[in-house]
Amino acid sequence: MAALGSCAHPLAKQVIIVFSMANSHFLSRCSADDIQKAAGQLKAGHLVAFPTETVYGLGADATNEEAVKRIYEVKGRPSNHPLIVHVSSINALAIWAEQIPEYAIELARKFWPGPMTLILKRSEVAKDFITGSQDSVGIRVPSDPIALALLTRFESLGGLGVAAPSANRFGQVSPTSSADVTEELGEYLEGADLILDGGRSTVGLESTIVDCTNYIPRILRPGAITRKHIESLLSIKLTQIPTNSLLRVSGGMEKHYSPKAKVLLNAIPRPGQALFALIESETPSGVVRIGAPTNEVEFARDLYWALRETDKRGLTEIIVIPPAGEGLAEAILERLTKSTGGRSK
Ligand code: TXA
Ligand code: MG
Repeated sequence: MAALGSCAHPLAKQVIIVFSMANSHFLSRCSADDIQKAAGQLKAGHLVAFPTETVYGLGADATNEEAVKRIYEVKGRPSNHPLIVHVSSINALAIWAEQIPEYAIELARKFWPGPMTLILKRSEVAKDFITGSQDSVGIRVPSDPIALALLTRFESLGGLGVAAPSANRFGQVSPTSSADVTEELGEYLEGADLILDGGRSTVGLESTIVDCTNYIPRILRPGAITRKHIESLLSIKLTQIPTNSLLRVSGGMEKHYSPKAKVLLNAIPRPGQALFALIESETPSGVVRIGAPTNEVEFARDLYWALRETDKRGLTEIIVIPPAGEGLAEAILERLTKSTGGRSK
């Protein structure tokens, strides 16, 4: 392990770069130079895992087929699953998409940078290896300052966008810290790949995915940008579609977001089980309290951490009592239902 210098990041966020070389990792404090280096590695066809406000992403140059192939290998993910292209601003929409409806522009203006992905009719730039051969492409401008700095640098080197799924092995819990990424993918990365550390993700759940390929938008994956946010911005009512019909959307498969431990929803916790619930829920004797978030925002932020922590402590079952209600609570429940594989108890 070698420290490679220390600095304050220009965006006032301390960054650590983990250089992954085979099985050894070298840590260094980051600088604008490190972001530059990471952007250069992306441009050269290597992988860079980076923080976003939702979860950490595993990035590759979205125009480089070989680099994108490696994302699938490292994740162990089926290659027909489309990837989200990350860009630094709304200006890149016209590069990746065509026939962009007015409402999509309104959504982008309001919620970007932020935890929302728009699905749009693809342009010629979005190749089959990004879209899973679909006629549409997913695009997002993340708000995390390190992600934005990385994307801006990458674009200044001539890059058009960074394809990035969540930086976990297929079916596993999405990572919300660089340590999680190292744990998930460290052994699969190569010497020139990088992991950027930007601390804990602040939202903690993947972006809201909005299908903008029809005359009216549809939410394909709920997230922190909620149906109400979208309906009130656009002054429309969205149609609801059952999530199990969304086979090509992350989590559309039976089991997703799954730790090793069995996840049980709304069950009465028994001794030896882990419990993750809002602070007002009591902890029965013998139950291992994993977290006590004070509201649904903290609940979402800490949920994936709690699932990982349960595994780290060697516990085999976790009871989760999700917050009730609409909006973010729906997104929490959707992820949890998938992490149980559809089981409620
Ligand atoms: O918050 C997020 O969205 C994170 C961060 C890293 O940006 N990314 C993320 O990517 O969650 P991923 O690949 O784990 O989940 C995104 C899902 C894909 O699985 C895919 O099903 C869906 O978005 N998607 C991407 N492009 C699509 C398209 N053209 N049509 C339908 N679904 C699409
Ligand atoms: Mg994912």
